[in-house]
Amino acid sequence: MSKLRRGSGRGARCAAAVAVLTLVVTGVAAGSAQAAGSTLQAAAAESGRYFGTAIAAGRLNDSTYSTIANREFNMITAENEMKMDATEPNRGQFNYTQGDRILNWALQNGKQVRGHALAWHSQQPGWMQNMEGSDLRQAMLNHVTQVATHYKGKIYAWDVVNEAFQDGSSGARRNSNLQRTGNDWIEAAFRAARAADPGAKLCYNDYNTDDWTHAKTQAVYNMVKDFKARGVPIDCVGLQSHFNPQSPVPNNYQTTLSSFAALGVDVQITELDIEGSGSSQAENYRKVVQACLNVSRCTGITVWGVRDTDSWRSGGTPLLFDGSGNKKAAYTSTLNTLNAGGTGTPTPTPTP
Ligand code: G3I
Repeated sequence: MSKLRRGSGRGARCAAAVAVLTLVVTGVAAGSAQAAGSTLQAAAAESGRYFGTAIAAGRLNDSTYSTIANREFNMITAENEMKMDATEPNRGQFNYTQGDRILNWALQNGKQVRGHALAWHSQQPGWMQNMEGSDLRQAMLNHVTQVATHYKGKIYAWDVVNEAFQDGSSGARRNSNLQRTGNDWIEAAFRAARAADPGAKLCYNDYNTDDWTHAKTQAVYNMVKDFKARGVPIDCVGLQSHFNPQSPVPNNYQTTLSSFAALGVDVQITELDIEGSGSSQAENYRKVVQACLNVSRCTGITVWGVRDTDSWRSGGTPLLFDGSGNKKAAYTSTLNTLNAGGTGTPTPTPTP
């Protein structure tokens, strides 16, 4: 005892100090381990953002796929199943089987859903492709109304209009059958969507709108500015953000995000994929995620698929999981960036 007591002098104080220090250190470590999200959705949620993926209904029975999707993502987009050709294969006859499958899977697993897409020049059903003029305008508006009504109250945000601008230097609208019904077709679609589902955020969604200096980006910006000025119901802009060496992540990407946000809309990265591999791909993902985190109204990021092999351009291995479902360097970089945070605390538009 006395030895112990004697030993309880300086030695014990040292031991106690070490113990306290250990507790503090492990406490801090445990604290930060708890604070740090171990999945993409948890890490994004730390700053009030979501992290989503596109889901293909036909893959949901693949347990590797659905396990990763359920664990990592809390915002779900139907990759093809809510598009015009899928939901209205014959005029006036609507088919929601596959779209509902994805929606129900998402809602049953506590996730939110981005609707994609109500009006688009592409993936129109055969009966619509050769239509023009007022008949087409009427068919398009009916489609928007019917589909948005079917999903009313269940959709976080709709891509109301997709890809309506041309690539290149013109800044013009894309010459599509929808555009030829009159320049006001986009705002007409937004008004119909708002009337059908007043609770969903309404987004304009496009690709090649990432570089602030590009004519297409400026054209979309000017349209959104005009819509806001005239009270056309628009709540968000989706930047698809499909990147590869020919179309790299621009250095001014954050400027693009913050410029749209300054118009009073949310900004969402809606179809992110970046072709490449290893550390360069990881660095590109870091840049994109950091840019979003630095912009208050960048409210979430969706990657366009789960594993590389699920991608619409699988040869470019553009996603966060390899074909076997293993986490790639790009995953780790994305997770770490989300956990480190940014300078923009999200302040999304109130739900309309
Ligand atoms: O399901 C059929 C299958 O039954 C058939 O045997 C096969 C034969 O070609 O086609 C299958 O459908 C394909 C479908 O993907 C499902 O795999 C379509 O042909 C094909 O056109 C379709 O491609 C989709 C593409 O949009 C169509 O435009 C991609 O999956 C989808 O990732 C892609 O997503 C778009 C966004 O909606 C908008 N932004 C660009 C993005 C990438 O292109």
